[in-house]
Amino acid sequence: MYTYTEEQIASMKKVEATRQERYENLFPRMSAEEKEAVLKENHPDYIESAYENLRVGPNKGDKVLHELAELLQGKSRVLDMNIDLNNPAYDVDVLVIGGGGAGASAAITAHKNGANVMMVTKLRIGDANTMMAEGGIQAADKENDSPAIHYLDAFGGGHFAAKPELLKKLVYEAPDAIKWLSDLGVMFDKDENGNMITTHGGGTSRKRMHACKDYSGAEIMRTLRDEVLNREIPIVDFTAAIEIVKDENGNAAGAVLLNMETGEVSVAKAKTVIIATGGAGRLHYQGFPTSNHYGATADGLVLAYRAGAKLLYADTLQYHPTGVAEPTQIFGALVTEKVRSLGAQLVNKEGKAFVYSLETRDVTASSIIRECRVRHNSIKTTDGEGVWLDTPMIELIGGPGTIEKRIPAMYRMFGKYGIDIRKEPILVYPTLHYQNGGIDIAANGEAGVKNLFVAGEAVGGIHGRNRLMGNSLLDIIVFGRNAGHFAAERAKEVTVGKLTLAHVDAFEKELEEAGIRPQKLSPQILPDYRRKDM
Ligand code: FUM
Repeated sequence: MYTYTEEQIASMKKVEATRQERYENLFPRMSAEEKEAVLKENHPDYIESAYENLRVGPNKGDKVLHELAELLQGKSRVLDMNIDLNNPAYDVDVLVIGGGGAGASAAITAHKNGANVMMVTKLRIGDANTMMAEGGIQAADKENDSPAIHYLDAFGGGHFAAKPELLKKLVYEAPDAIKWLSDLGVMFDKDENGNMITTHGGGTSRKRMHACKDYSGAEIMRTLRDEVLNREIPIVDFTAAIEIVKDENGNAAGAVLLNMETGEVSVAKAKTVIIATGGAGRLHYQGFPTSNHYGATADGLVLAYRAGAKLLYADTLQYHPTGVAEPTQIFGALVTEKVRSLGAQLVNKEGKAFVYSLETRDVTASSIIRECRVRHNSIKTTDGEGVWLDTPMIELIGGPGTIEKRIPAMYRMFGKYGIDIRKEPILVYPTLHYQNGGIDIAANGEAGVKNLFVAGEAVGGIHGRNRLMGNSLLDIIVFGRNAGHFAAERAKEVTVGKLTLAHVDAFEKELEEAGIRPQKLSPQILPDYRRKDM
């Protein structure tokens, strides 16, 4: 059970006292100039000291966060190993690395296209950010909406930096992605007439967020996992890919695999490879807590980079505005944006609203950081500070029962600690949620290395420099299916040459020439939570 401090109780009373007035007079939206200013002064992406320039590889000269630079310029795990490339343990058409929603969608689609597919995952299928996604998935499939309007919302929200051909694919294939998921068995929320219930997310001009209560990702992952199992697609689990294998022609041709339980190393040969390894929240960039699953350590970026693929916008991260700030046991966990879609307001320690609740995520997160660090209007918490998210407003707007009906997972998550979100506001602070950037791909999902495809959060460029809510569950489906389709088609015409890891040696030489003596083995595979003070 959580016991509030006296300061928290006093502040909570102010929140209650101003609720009716805030309900009647919504906080206004920001102008473009105000948004620009709050971002530049407060968003963690603008903290220059957190960054360094890469000294080797395809993005030499580009800035990335120190934690990522250490891994991209890290020491390959295969250097000291004796690897027999002539006797691969597996030989398949399409090798999918990653067991989340993008990997599963890719595997299902490649299998449907007649390919001999294998999935390899360092944990289990479904141990992924997909499973933890809450609020929903965007698709313009209502009469007052269109993919073109969806495009404009996402393009503006991403600061006009998205690759047009990728974003166009995302929004135009969205309605079919929803239909595909529905046909596979995903139970989307519907009204009494069977119509999909849709809501707003931050930065959307239409209600196009389809959801399964507030466990949308878990429902989608459950369905995809069932389909992978039904198709009897082989899954090699608890096995991490630690290097991409190429053939003598310089094309991707498989991966070196490390069994996490036995330490055994093997080789998977493949005609095409799909990287679907997800994000990087567990690197805890700039010391932030994270909403991500345990395996989110940017492994795919490292594998692709050493194989010669370019990264795009790797310097930009998404800090979800509302991570749990209290109680400490769930510090950093996601409080879905749907809570704000349903009407909850962000409020400071004096009970005053300070930002329109559905600005885009980067703007909202920056406004919270400003309210805490610059304006000193925060509430002290066990792990630092936070602001209120006034959840009782939801029932004021939607009527009694709305919270249990629409966001039951939030209700239960806080209920475990004796906090009734129908009656009390909750404390929140931004949490590391998503890597906006990643591996640069063409519209067919292929990275700069032939026969190497990428899908899901490991891709950079779909969303530009900031992603809107619900466009990630969408991109894992659209770009997962896309990669699966094109990888399977390509596999039909590929003859794999002699396998080699010469690119790893060449990269090591580049590091040496740049005077870099890597301290860290990469990919990292799992987070490092060893106490540093012992
Ligand atoms: O707030 C959320 O439910 C997160 C959704 C997303 O990242 O798309």
